[in-house]
Amino acid sequence: MKLGTPLSDTAVRVMLLGAGELGKEVAIELQRLGAEVIAVDRYPNAPAMQVAHRSHVIPMTDPQVLNGVIMAEAPHIIVPEIEAIATDVLAQIEAAGLATVIPTARASQLTMNREGIRRLAAEELGLPTSPYAFATSAMELAEAAHSIGLPVFIKPVMSSSGKGQSMIESLEDAPNAWAYAQSGGRVETATVIVEGRIDFDYEITLLTVRSLRDGQVRTDFCAPIGHRQVKGDYVESWQPQAMSAAALASAQDIAGKVTGALGGLGVFGVELFVKGDQVWFSEVSPRPHDTGLVTLATQTMSEFALHARAILGLPVDVSQRDIGASAVIYGGMEATGIAFEGVAEALSVPTADLRLFGKPEAFERRRMGVALARGATTDEARERAVLAASLVKPTAA
Ligand SMILES: Nc1ncnc2c1ncn2[C@@H]1O[C@H](COP(=O)(O)OP(=O)(O)O)[C@@H](O)[C@H]1O
Ligand SMILES: [Mg+2]
Repeated sequence: MKLGTPLSDTAVRVMLLGAGELGKEVAIELQRLGAEVIAVDRYPNAPAMQVAHRSHVIPMTDPQVLNGVIMAEAPHIIVPEIEAIATDVLAQIEAAGLATVIPTARASQLTMNREGIRRLAAEELGLPTSPYAFATSAMELAEAAHSIGLPVFIKPVMSSSGKGQSMIESLEDAPNAWAYAQSGGRVETATVIVEGRIDFDYEITLLTVRSLRDGQVRTDFCAPIGHRQVKGDYVESWQPQAMSAAALASAQDIAGKVTGALGGLGVFGVELFVKGDQVWFSEVSPRPHDTGLVTLATQTMSEFALHARAILGLPVDVSQRDIGASAVIYGGMEATGIAFEGVAEALSVPTADLRLFGKPEAFERRRMGVALARGATTDEARERAVLAASLVKPTAA
């Protein structure tokens, strides 16, 4: 693809569907290469809108409205940043050759529903996963939990960031888990996935990049990222996660297969569970991953720079430069236009850096920013990142 001048006839127009903190960093990287960036989300002043050339506020799950915006903007490249999108529209746009969908329309369709990606990984590709079943009622859920064996995780098939997700250790809790899943799903699909618990030593995100070099698609792996999840949401990540050579080889093999099956160009966040040398596939984001925010501090090119380069058909460099960590800064309150105290103190922690996302509205558990730090070891980097994050104090206006 030939790059051009934004807002002119030679512009390469890139539309971000979802304008959160990950999209904001992608937008900045695209801006640096002179792409014309159009940010779309369901609320005004979303993070990526603040650094885009233009923005639109629409319900992205409404096929007609989404199609209208795409037709009006005529982007060359469409980059989904979230899962809650009318993906059938993307499939039509792609089939008509009107734009390139990143990585592919099919990938966004398969990964927006846990059933699609799980069946692809486990049943078509034969990758190791937790035992699982799908249930469409509290009764089926209890039956599935019984046959898989407790404890089990219950997740709405259309959900992300731990929403509607729970773990039960007794069949008596099945009705509660069912009701909770119904409240947390993204759309009115009643299906849940029931997954046996994997008793892992640690979990990783293996950022995997499909890019073009000399006209050929190649796959590169970033150093593994370790992370800690609380209630299905990431609170801390670090890079590299120490792994045995066998586990790393197996992780790369799984990630290569699943990203190969999804196809297209860009960054994928492949989530894996590891115990000793054994590795299980958990899920995959066909886009930069929240735990990958750590790469802003560690890699020659962050996952956002990698994504921007790859989707523009440009070569990438996945090398790691430093050992580092990230720690999430939460809103801690429900308020609009919050302020942040303690920023100078946080930035006085050695090597510390911050991203404050600029989200117009805070919630108790909304991610409002992230602290980054480097260190001689991941333990040192984690201590610094956690300390820096703790020093940033959201306050009401
Ligand atoms: N089958 C499982 N066994 C063990 N832990 C799990 C399992 N499923 C989910 N988890 C834990 O919950 C976290 C969130 O689950 P995940 O499927 O990634 O949901 P989300 O799409 O909301 O990120 C995982 O990162 C892991 O820590
Ligand atoms: Mg996940």
